[in-house]
Amino acid sequence: MGHTVNGTTYPQLYVHAQTAQLRCLMTTLCDKHSQRGDWVFTADRVNRIMVEFALNFLPVDPVRVITAVDDEAAEGVCFAGKIVGVSVIRAGEAMETALRSCCRNVRLGKILVQRDEETAKPKFYLAKLPHDVAERHVLLMDPMLATGGSALTAIGKLLEAGVKEENIIFVNVVAAPEGISNLLHRHPKITFCTAAVAEGLTQKCYIRRSVGDFGDRYFGTN
Ligand code: URA
Repeated sequence: MGHTVNGTTYPQLYVHAQTAQLRCLMTTLCDKHSQRGDWVFTADRVNRIMVEFALNFLPVDPVRVITAVDDEAAEGVCFAGKIVGVSVIRAGEAMETALRSCCRNVRLGKILVQRDEETAKPKFYLAKLPHDVAERHVLLMDPMLATGGSALTAIGKLLEAGVKEENIIFVNVVAAPEGISNLLHRHPKITFCTAAVAEGLTQKCYIRRSVGDFGDRYFGTN
């Protein structure tokens, strides 16, 4: 499995099938003329699709159930182990509703990383994680991955807290090749789920021909 970007194959990169539905939704997100209500509604739908997609990469255990019609036993599976969602503030918070809709009672952590205007490097401010995060599978949510600076800082904080690299699933919507390379060369064991691989970055490190500032458009601060 995996996916090839600019000639490099990343076994842990999973790009959602480019279905007509997903392409329609992504077109609305990329359109600068989309009305705010339509844009937020569409972002919620894409976030839900990506959370559902990412949940496919959690481990499962075999389970036997008794079927309703005939009281016969049937073999099935159930999710193994505990999970936590961790959003990278601010855009990642837009994915929390989708995760809550799929996983009842899910715990939600947060990590705040901001660009230091003097050094242009990501600066860590805050991590709020459950005490037993080290024992959990983490769905790390950030819809836009440009250079990968914030996501790398967030992953570093999760590893410092004892989370196993192979237990991190990065849930994303649009990823630039630069960010994919930075994340997966440093952390080859994470699982990386995205809806779209972009062409590259603008001079200001925005993703080219894409959705613009996800947090601003979602929360109405543009
Ligand atoms: N974050 C965004 O919201 N948009 C980009 O294009 C890049 C990073």
